[in-house]
Amino acid sequence: MQSAEVTALPVIASWQQIHQPMLLRHQLELWVYQLNTAIPQLSGNKWLKLKYHIVQAQQLQKAGFLTFGGAFSNHLAAVAAMCHHYGLKSLAYVRADQLDKHNPTLAFCLQHGMQIQLLNREQYRLRNDADFLQQLQQQHQHFLIVPEGGSSAAGASGVAELELALTPNGTASHVICAAASGGTLAGIINSTGCKVLGIAVVKDPSLPARINQLLHSSAKQHWSLNTDFCGAGYARFDDSTIQFCRDMAQQQLYLEPIYTGKALAGVFTLIEQGYFSPGSRLSFFHTGGLQGLAGLHYRKLITTADFALLSGSAAG
Ligand SMILES: Cc1ncc(COP(=O)(O)O)c(C=O)c1O
Repeated sequence: MQSAEVTALPVIASWQQIHQPMLLRHQLELWVYQLNTAIPQLSGNKWLKLKYHIVQAQQLQKAGFLTFGGAFSNHLAAVAAMCHHYGLKSLAYVRADQLDKHNPTLAFCLQHGMQIQLLNREQYRLRNDADFLQQLQQQHQHFLIVPEGGSSAAGASGVAELELALTPNGTASHVICAAASGGTLAGIINSTGCKVLGIAVVKDPSLPARINQLLHSSAKQHWSLNTDFCGAGYARFDDSTIQFCRDMAQQQLYLEPIYTGKALAGVFTLIEQGYFSPGSRLSFFHTGGLQGLAGLHYRKLITTADFALLSGSAAG
């Protein structure tokens, strides 16, 4: 696969060092890597997970992407934005009983030309089923099927292009990210020589196997997946996670509580527990997802003040 075939989206990469007394106490450095694009829905891991799907669509002369996601999914917003940007169609099978056009994520998707089909919870379980996918492919022959979260070999190979271990202060001992459908973690494991730690934000017993399927045979060492921090389950969070996001926002690090906030709060707990040896240098990949804050606010799961603060738009 050649990236030269797609006109790359300009990205701005940056490193931010986090300063906290606890880090000093444990003699650790913590760096956060961010990748922003002019299209916020494609920041973090999103452009990387989708770029080689664009190459595939072009090679196979497909008219667009067909994909899957929940009603507030960052991945759906990213697919809608990506397809709109590259002049492709997008079709999403969304886990929902009704189409709520006021849902900010779906409103964005619709505005960007995405067609939406609804699947109830039971039907949605078939999203990785080979027969179901074959049936969908027959119905929509001109669409490239992109799995939920963009976690295919193509998705992982985009993420593998990042040099997440090269912090401004030297090579990291650990590269860390949130893991849900697994493609981001797999891409990092495939490309990084140092220890890689995924913090699972979903309760999904199949996640390790899904990650393993995307690994190159040479990359099967040196990684682990921590499943201690998903709390009550995917997209559920408690006030301590929100408080953590607020604390980080004071340092101009903007997180949401479903992926990056939950995962980085988990890293802080591991630090407290002495998981990392003194002298370790941690690199945390900020995988984006701030579009999800609007959906949390819409459902009144976060306050207006938190919405503004965590989005980085609070006054003062
Ligand atoms: C903001 C954010 N962070 C992390 C992840 C997890 O990435 P993956 O699904 O590749 O494990 C996702 C899902 O794609 C996400 O939207």
